[in-house]
Amino acid sequence: MTFTREVGTLLHRPAYVHVTLSSRKILASRKHRGCRSSTNSQVDLCNLELPAGSLGLPLIGETLNLLLKGDSFGADRNARYGAIWKTNILGSPTIMVFDEAACRKVLKEEGRLVEVIWPDVTADLVGPASLNLLKGEEHLRMKRVLGEAFSEQAVAALMPELEACAHSFCQRWAQLGSFSGYEESKYWAWAMFGATVLGMPGQLSMGRKLARLNDELQSGFQTLPVKLPASPYSRALAARQAMADLINQQIDALQSQERGHSCLENMLALEDPSSSGSPLNRHQISDNIIAAAFGNASAGPTAAKILQYLGAGSRARGLVSAELAAHAPHGPLTPAVLDRLPYTNAVVQEILRITPIVPALFRRALQDFELCGCRVPKGWSVYVHTGASTQQYNQDSFQPERWLQGQGSDSFQEAASSGCPAATEYMLPFGLGPRMCLGRHLVKAALTVLVIVLVRGYSWQMEDPEEQWSVFPTVQPKQGLEVTSFRKQ
Ligand code: HEM
Repeated sequence: MTFTREVGTLLHRPAYVHVTLSSRKILASRKHRGCRSSTNSQVDLCNLELPAGSLGLPLIGETLNLLLKGDSFGADRNARYGAIWKTNILGSPTIMVFDEAACRKVLKEEGRLVEVIWPDVTADLVGPASLNLLKGEEHLRMKRVLGEAFSEQAVAALMPELEACAHSFCQRWAQLGSFSGYEESKYWAWAMFGATVLGMPGQLSMGRKLARLNDELQSGFQTLPVKLPASPYSRALAARQAMADLINQQIDALQSQERGHSCLENMLALEDPSSSGSPLNRHQISDNIIAAAFGNASAGPTAAKILQYLGAGSRARGLVSAELAAHAPHGPLTPAVLDRLPYTNAVVQEILRITPIVPALFRRALQDFELCGCRVPKGWSVYVHTGASTQQYNQDSFQPERWLQGQGSDSFQEAASSGCPAATEYMLPFGLGPRMCLGRHLVKAALTVLVIVLVRGYSWQMEDPEEQWSVFPTVQPKQGLEVTSFRKQ
């Protein structure tokens, strides 16, 4: 999910997106001011001040500053104002929230204190029946129903597809020998989506096709919504149509042939929550598969970090390898096998933590409320920097061990000195509350399977294992994460 792959995206703002106003190096030293609960507390909102910060110039606010300074825009202000501050960017007065407890509170209060922000073009580009655009009870009911198609149990049935897809890409990478880890992980993610969500072959051609359609569709959020022949917006709409056609063809195929496993197939068996007894209709299905595709755009960049941090010689790779040798040296991957691998699971957790691909979520205040002792005015945007919550702990160092504290093994004791509370609830890679990620079980399983297939059978080197990632306008590695000498062990 991209927010601003380019600065041009400022026109529109999809929500579960790859953008942040950099929370790096900001939080460790700040004073925690504590956040009280809001409207239902006794706080007299009129007496509360707005957070510190500046609204900048009339009309343009601080947008130019943001564009010019990129990553350092947020870092400067964090250093100056702390964990909550105001600004005026992208045409909207905005409260920036970096405080962990405050982030949680805002996300949990979806529908009461805040609501998710989606640009108007979302109805065209994703679809009016998508989870993204449903609100309140209607959203909750649809989310519950769709949750069955993407549940842990549903994902357990998809393990063979996940494993086959990981093998197919590892074999390809061994043939290539060297490649851009960022690009190839993207193809893996889309092939994985094709195999598990759509029930199609999880191969390179599918990965490439879906990646291209997704890129074209997402570019519709970065341009003016002008429907002229060959305009960028019309191309985005054409990509959306192509995706919807693909989904419809696949539904026809699933209805006329012997079935396998896929989330799409699971969806065909679901009931429309708004009309008891009838199945979900085609619009509900295709709009929500396209919404899922939006989410899936985060999977590729996340997988690229696996290549970066498990390259030859890395300590984490050695520990995963030892764990696999002891508990799952070979044989098919099942949820029971994955459960036997705490260190491998911790690696995936850490991959999701470090340089989070979705570092901020976007909301609008539905009423005045109190946050961190300040007033958040009704109608203002609220940017919830979920990625900040764990970056404050040893932010740049990759330490899967932090997630194993309390699990007893001596070899992980050094985690105790990392200063990270190491509880999964401190991390919000998939958000929180009613809007929490629909695909979280799927993508966690997919990443874990990829780690296992990679470490069991292959080794590789990164051209620059220390390569930095930029965060604004899009979270991505600065040089594409070149992998050199990828080979079978
Ligand atoms: C590493 C990969 C992923 C990350 C980091 C991620 C993260 C997120 C986050 C943070 C949200 C919450 C957005 C908000 O509160 O505004 C979200 C929502 C969502 N995600 Fe994911 N996601 C990932 C992969 C996926 C996949 C693979 C799918 C589907 C197959 C998916 C489907 C969705 C959907 C449909 C929503 C909207 C839920 C709603 O509005 O109720 N995501 N994702």
